[in-house]
Amino acid sequence: MTKEPAPINNIIRSRRSIFPRDFTGARVEDQVVRQMLENANWAPSHKLTEPWRFIVYTGEGLRRLAELQAACYESRTRADGTFSEDKYIKLLKKPLESSHIIVVAMKRDPHKRLPEVEELGAVFCAIQNMHLTATAYGIGGYLSTGGITYFEEAKQLFGLDQEDRLIGFFHIGTPAQWPDGHRGPFESKFKWIDK
Ligand SMILES: Cc1cc2nc3c(=O)[nH]c(=O)nc-3n(C[C@H](O)[C@H](O)[C@H](O)COP(=O)(O)O)c2cc1C
Repeated sequence: MTKEPAPINNIIRSRRSIFPRDFTGARVEDQVVRQMLENANWAPSHKLTEPWRFIVYTGEGLRRLAELQAACYESRTRADGTFSEDKYIKLLKKPLESSHIIVVAMKRDPHKRLPEVEELGAVFCAIQNMHLTATAYGIGGYLSTGGITYFEEAKQLFGLDQEDRLIGFFHIGTPAQWPDGHRGPFESKFKWIDK
């Protein structure tokens, strides 16, 4: 185990959410995406339940994802009267702006040995590993939790059971630029008690 903190400090602080509007359109190498998935798999999980699940869509697969989510949106919103043509078109077109989209899900431990929050926490750790790995390769990405993420019926599109959770869509692309980030002072977010 080598002790080399500088690279991780740099990667953590330079990780940014980079959106499809800032992608060049150049395809990201599959090998980088595989590395992101492999590092995601090294996330911690209580009782080693390893609850993260991923489905990668790329190439023509992106069109399939677009059609899946647009159809899911349409059938729900036509039924409840909230259908918007603009949203529908966006769901059909947006996925095509990314090089790869990773659908992220949480597979619930069948014995429910842990509170759900712990399994969700583990999946978000996996997402962060993925995002930090992309950053290390100079690849852009962000987690979208919009669209059909919280539609109960979306689960079955991705082979999930009722007790599982669809977490979101991690969009990946080649960044045209790398934005700056901003955070409030970390000193305002902790207390340090030593006596
Ligand atoms: C759980 C979670 C859900 C998010 N969902 C969305 C989303 O649906 N749409 C979006 O534009 N950004 C989303 N983001 C990205 C945040 O907007 C972004 O992390 C935040 O603005 C800070 O920017 P940074 O990631 O570049 O530091 C999400 C981030 C997290 C952690």
